[in-house]
Amino acid sequence: MTREGEILQLRARITGTGSYVPRKILNNVDLEKSVETSDKWITERTGIKERRIASSSETASDLGAKASKKALKKAGLKPASIDLIIVATVSGDMPMPSTASFIQKKIEAKNAAAFDLNAACSGFLYGLAVANSFITSGTYKNILLVGTEVLSRFTDWEDRTTCILFGDAAGAVVIEATSEDRGVMSLHLHSDGTMWNLLYLPGGGSKYPPSKESIDKRMHYIKMKGNETFRVAVRTLEKLVTDTLKENKIKPSDISLLIPHQANLRIIQATAKRLNLPMEKVVVNLDKYGNTSSASIPMAIDEAIESGRIRDGEYILLEAFGGGLTWASVLIKW
Ligand code: ACO
Repeated sequence: MTREGEILQLRARITGTGSYVPRKILNNVDLEKSVETSDKWITERTGIKERRIASSSETASDLGAKASKKALKKAGLKPASIDLIIVATVSGDMPMPSTASFIQKKIEAKNAAAFDLNAACSGFLYGLAVANSFITSGTYKNILLVGTEVLSRFTDWEDRTTCILFGDAAGAVVIEATSEDRGVMSLHLHSDGTMWNLLYLPGGGSKYPPSKESIDKRMHYIKMKGNETFRVAVRTLEKLVTDTLKENKIKPSDISLLIPHQANLRIIQATAKRLNLPMEKVVVNLDKYGNTSSASIPMAIDEAIESGRIRDGEYILLEAFGGGLTWASVLIKW
């Protein structure tokens, strides 16, 4: 109940989480058989031990729909109560329609609007920012935000510098409006398109439409200048997280959990070190799943909830860096 003339401050709060990974596991030793690499190199340089690979019949919307159903169940919401579905992905089912449309059909969210969003590995946090705007403006009450990727279809399995990194997975969250002082507290989105060519997938769009030549040149696979991307990521994320805390006037010790995008353990460790956070306060699951782009943060949130690592009232810091280049952080009071 608000007094006359008083404006109700709405916040966006995550009320349900879910994740889904395909059954097939591809470990580092399996990769040793197809490219010149070793379990030792991959483990030391990335922290990744294994990743999941979708079956030939599974698509990004299949994975996303399964994660979504779990998130809805945990939130205690029926699909028909969802007003909007946002899907963050760079490996959607088709260029058109959106993967969100397929998920809307598969989970029977018949009252939901649906669209996709591409901000590469920062996609989930960009999606959270969009959802936050719809919620705080009062436009929508219940939003389903999904990060889903079948990166294995866009991975060049002959390129040892990238094929060791990526995996398939989906994570989903239900976001609801609340008038309590909790939920998304601050958002920090950034991009720098001048560095687009550090991480990209050239083929299949309007610049290089599918052709025999584009296929022969392996243009439908992810290209990355790994070492350069690594250096920019470390520098950028260190500044991002310190700026986020400064703007919110909170100390690193106030953060209960850091949930980073899972690209490389050394990047995650550098960010934690900059904040003086012990690794017990950082969620790491890339050893099991590799880099799953927009799926990695909602998966890690779900895992942290399931293992009792997140409690009401705690500050949780989310951060991501990826193609675009894009980078983003979101501070949540749970
Ligand atoms: N196995 C063995 N050796 C390898 C492999 C491999 N799989 N890959 C590369 N090497 C070799 C290189 O050829 C190079 O050899 P050289 O010294 O003889 O030339 C050497 O290892 C070192 O290569 P670097 O590229 O310098 O290795 P680095 O330590 O940078 O690790 C990695 C590479 C893991 C890719 C790292 O750079 C990285 O994680 N980059 C950032 C990824 C990222 O954050 N991406 C953004 C998010 S992803 C998204 O948005 C989709």
